[in-house]
Formats: sequence, C-alpha cells, structure tokens
Amino acid sequence: MMSLQNLSSTRELIRAASKELGIGRSEAELVIATLMNRPRLEIYLKDTVNEEDGFILWSRIQQLKNGIPIEYVTKRVQFRDYTLSVQPGVFIPRIETESFVELLPKILPRSPERVLEIGTGCGAISIALAQLYPDADIIATDISEPAIANAVQNIKSFDFESRIHLLRCDMLEGITGKFDLIVSNPPYVPRSRMKLLPKSVREFEPLKAIDGGEHGVQFIEKLVKKGMDYLTGAGVMALEIDEDSVKKLKTFMADRHIGSFVFKRDLFNKYRFLFIGVGNEKS
Ligand SMILES: C[S@@+](CC[C@H](N)C(=O)[O-])C[C@H]1O[C@@H](n2cnc3c(N)ncnc32)[C@H](O)[C@@H]1O
Repeated sequence: MMSLQNLSSTRELIRAASKELGIGRSEAELVIATLMNRPRLEIYLKDTVNEEDGFILWSRIQQLKNGIPIEYVTKRVQFRDYTLSVQPGVFIPRIETESFVELLPKILPRSPERVLEIGTGCGAISIALAQLYPDADIIATDISEPAIANAVQNIKSFDFESRIHLLRCDMLEGITGKFDLIVSNPPYVPRSRMKLLPKSVREFEPLKAIDGGEHGVQFIEKLVKKGMDYLTGAGVMALEIDEDSVKKLKTFMADRHIGSFVFKRDLFNKYRFLFIGVGNEKS
C-alpha cells in the first residue's frame, strides 16, 4: 500500500505512477513531467517533493488511473505554438487538427482575410489561424457554453481579442457576410463507432462534439448546404472528416453539382480533410 511518506521524492513518484498506471518507467517519467509542467529532463533536478505537492501529484495519478484524460487533469493542451487551457467538458484538440491547420497555407490560393470557424471548442484552430494569418479577422462559433467560456480564456491570454470574435450559436445562426475561409472540425464520428471509442473519450469528452449522426456526415452535409452561400467567390470551406465518410460525401457533392473539392490525408495516412472550392476531384 502506497503512503504519502513514500512519495517524498520524484523517483518515488515515478515508481508509484508506473505501478498505479501499469506503464513503464520512461512513460511514467513523461506523465510526472507533464503533471509537474516541467520538461522531462528537469524532473530529477529537485528530487525532494514536499508533502502538499506529493499529495496533489498522487491524487492526479489516481485521476489518470480512473481514465480521466491527462489534458483534463492538467487543464492544459499543446496545440502548435500554444499551450492552451482545456477545461473538462470541452473537446480536447487532437494532433490531426494541428496538421489540418498546417495544410491550409498549402491549399488556400491566398491568405484569407475573413475567416469563420464553426465549432471552435477551446479556440485552438482560430488561435492558430490568427497567428498564421496576421491580417485575418476571425469569427469563431460554438453551441456549447463551456466551450465558449474556455475559448474566451485562451483568446484573452494570447491577446487575440481584437481579431477573434466569439459567438455562441447553432452552426451559422446569426452569421452574416461572406468569408474567404470557413473552417470546421465538426462532430463527425459515425454513430455505430461511438461505442468503440476509448473509455477516456466516451466517459469524459463531450459526446455532442463527436457524434456525427448515423453516417458521420449529418453536421457536415448541413454545413456544406448552408455554408456555400457564405463563401466569397474564391472562398474555401475546409472540413475535418472521417475516412469512412468519403464515399458518402462524394455522392453528396455530386448530387449538389460541387465539382471543385479535394480530400487530403492526415499524418496517419487516413483521409481526414475535405477542402471545397479548390482542386477538381471527380466524384
Ligand atoms: C470535434 S469538436 C472540435 C473543437 C475544436 N475546433 C478542435 O478542433 O479542437 C466539435 C465542436 O463543435 C461544437 N458543436 C457541435 N454542434 C454544434 C453546432 N450545432 N453549432 C456550433 N458548434 C457545434 C462542439 O461543441 C465542439 O466544440
């Protein structure tokens, strides 16, 4: 039985994390470094841990043992150049979405000046775009109140308040004007796959941020139908999608006579992104 007296040094904490979480030593070092918010190399510099810190770290290890994602335990997530706050109840930005943002300058014909993000969550995409396109004016929306509160916090802390305007609304409700870029990482997991998601996702992340309806395209099809009218002449709609939805989306695009689009793969070589208004995909 582990007692707090046994947790008065970093080495002991690493041993405890390894045992409690059933992971190897180097993974436990990473976990402890993340919980301490220190680079892994520095965790041994001060080996003594006082009682209060030992208690906090032990209770965080227990949260991880219960399946709570480490980002909700630390309330931090790294997204490109930014360490963002992410609060329980708000979707945790994924690495695929970092590569989505990275693809944009390669895909877009020119730097967008007016950008609309639908479903901003903690604000990750809009913040990365504000950095990438210093002249862009961005509207970021979300239907979830905790997401908007979280995004406000991040946008303030990186001083983007004058460039990113947040709006709590359902998809395009209340939005006016035209945009050079409409971007969204929407709920897109097909309903049948929801139960196969890892426990940490199913039990702790907001399912409304993930569930894309029967075929994973419910939100996407609605957004494309309504959103095309919000694009400027050379405007682009950039969407994250599920690979299993590609066929369905091609049919949808053909039915709507949309001929200019391209699917792109993510860093795991899965089709993950759909860009409408560029490329010339044959459906
Ligand atoms: C997959 S998460 C993406 C969050 C963030 N953009 C990211 O990439 O990390 C989808 C987001 O869409 C929001 N959302 C779901 N339905 C919505 C709707 N009808 N209108 C606006 N936002 C919605 C969710 O609250 C959630 O924050």
